[in-house]
Parts: sequence; structure tokens; C-alpha cells
Amino acid sequence: MGFPRQRLRRLRQHQILREMVQETNLTPSDFVYPLFVTFGKERQEPIASMPGQYRWSVDLLVKEAAEAKALGIPSVILFGIPEQKDERGTSAYDKDGVVQQAVRALKTQLPDLLVMTDVCIDEYTSHGHCGIVRDGRIVNDETLDCLRLMARSHAEAGVDLVAPSDMMDGRIGSIRDELDQLGFQDLPIMAYSAKYASSLYAPFRDAALSSPSFGDRRSYQMDPANAREAIREVQLDIDEGADIVMVKPASFYLDIVRVLGEAVTVPLAAYQVSGEYSMIKAGAQLGWIDEQNVMMESLLSIKRAGADMILTYFAKDAARLLNQHRLL
Ligand code: PBG
Repeated sequence: MGFPRQRLRRLRQHQILREMVQETNLTPSDFVYPLFVTFGKERQEPIASMPGQYRWSVDLLVKEAAEAKALGIPSVILFGIPEQKDERGTSAYDKDGVVQQAVRALKTQLPDLLVMTDVCIDEYTSHGHCGIVRDGRIVNDETLDCLRLMARSHAEAGVDLVAPSDMMDGRIGSIRDELDQLGFQDLPIMAYSAKYASSLYAPFRDAALSSPSFGDRRSYQMDPANAREAIREVQLDIDEGADIVMVKPASFYLDIVRVLGEAVTVPLAAYQVSGEYSMIKAGAQLGWIDEQNVMMESLLSIKRAGADMILTYFAKDAARLLNQHRLL
């Protein structure tokens, strides 16, 4: 039976009916809000390439997280910008490092907020790479020792979930072993499993002052040309103990989100990265696109593709809009 009996426009005539037949619904509880934390007090430094995003000192970070929580956002993920960087990223596993302090402050002052931490040493190394460098190469197994120490220090500070983003082989198993040995067997791991060597991380590296001082990340992050390999990455991570897996970036990789959503039975996260955010912001600032509409469309698309949760710098703006709409 086709036209004229079937008219798909019938269900599009009325706003209420359109909403009733919507297949995908966004809610603030879909979001994880990424936050940059730095040393000092009363600091809120704007990040030039990410309008509306800041590097926060711990005291102000707590306020920002409280605002997010009040909007219905259940979780934040923390990235640290330390005072000192060195070859091995030692401040990444200092028990009084910026992230460790932030975790303690958040868990004390906002116990109902789920606090996640990014586990990767690139923000802490002088060379900006996600691993230990030897003769110009990023060495895998030695890096795992740093990651174990880092995950351990976050666990001891009281974090609710750790999220390794370095893309070293074997990192999930290694961190799982470490946590289990220390009695943190119930602390979940969200693996950045399908993390692509993307040019869309540039504003983040600006924010975290973590651009590699030589070379690039293509010897550890995935080739944007590959889709089947994402399934291998995810399967390995699940075998090693990942509880949630992630695709990153999100919008250019929605095919991967879709494929993995069908291939795996663990929850799936997608990271709308800095470049995705900044492109929308820039387009809107130029007056070429409507910021709110494009923001909502981008987030809806990520969810429609199959993501169970979305890491997004738009978390607060989108939650505010969704809440307003609900109150109408
Ligand atoms: C690595 C890490 C990066 C991002 C999240 N974790 C940067 C990178 O791999 O260069 C990028 C996030 C974004 O662009 O928003 N610690």
C-alpha cells in the first residue's frame, strides 16, 4: 500500500504528535560534562579555541560541577593541567595532583555527582605524547606502569570511574589488575576503545597544552580509514575488563557508533570532541548556522546512531534547553 493511502506527512502536522512519534529522545542524563582542572585558586581561564570552556582551579571547578548537576547532568569527566610537566608525566600520579585534589573536593562537596577521570599522561608529559618516549618512539609496555599508577591514584582519591584514553595495547587489563589487587574490583573502567588519530582534537590540545612536541599520534591512535579494526579494539578491551566502551570523535564516526552499538553488549559512549564543539561555535559566531539548533541536531544524531551516553562540552547548554522545553 502506497500513496495516496500512505502519507507520511500526516504525523508531521502537529508539534505534539511529532514529539509522540519521536524515535530518539535526548535528556540531560545522557551527558557527561568534560572539565579541565588546573592548579591555583579562583582561576577560570578562558580557552581561546573553545568559547565557553575554561580551565578551572579546584575551588571554582566545584561550583561549575554543581551547576551542571543542578541542570540534571549526572556526571563529569576530569582532565588535569599540572603545574609541572616532565618526560614521564610524574605529576599524573601524584596523590596531590590537580585531578586527585579535584576528585576529593567533588566527592566531598557533591557526593551525588558521578566523577570520572581521564587516564592518560599526555597532559603531564613535557613532550606531549601519551606514552614514554625512547629514541623517538612511544614505548608501550613501560607506559602501562605509568597508567597503573595514575589509575591507582585516582581510585585512592575516590573517583567513581576511570577512563583510559591513551590507546596503548593491554592498558585495560593492566589497569584492571592493578585496581583489583588494591581492592577496587568494583570500580568501573570506560575504555576509549575506538579512538581515532583525529585532527579534531586540536582545540583540546590548546586547552590542555598537550600538543606533541614532535611527530603525531598515529602510532597509537586509530587510522580514520578503518572500521573493522574498531571492532577488534573493542573486543580486546572487553576481554581485558572494560565495562563501557567509547567511540571518539563522534560526529564524523557515526558509522562506527552504529556498528559497535550492534556488535557489543556493553554500554557505548561517544565523545563529541573539542573540534566538533569549536566548529559549531565558530560557525554560529560567524552567523552562518544557528548554534542551538545545530548543537541539538548533532547530539540527537549521536544518540540516534546508538550511543548510550555522550561526552560533550555542550552538556550544560543542551541540558538547559531540554529543561526549558520540558517545562513548557
Ligand atoms: C588524551 C585525550 C585527548 C582528548 C581526550 N583525551 C587528546 C588527544 O588524544 O590528543 C581529546 C578530547 C577533545 O578533543 O575534546 N588525554
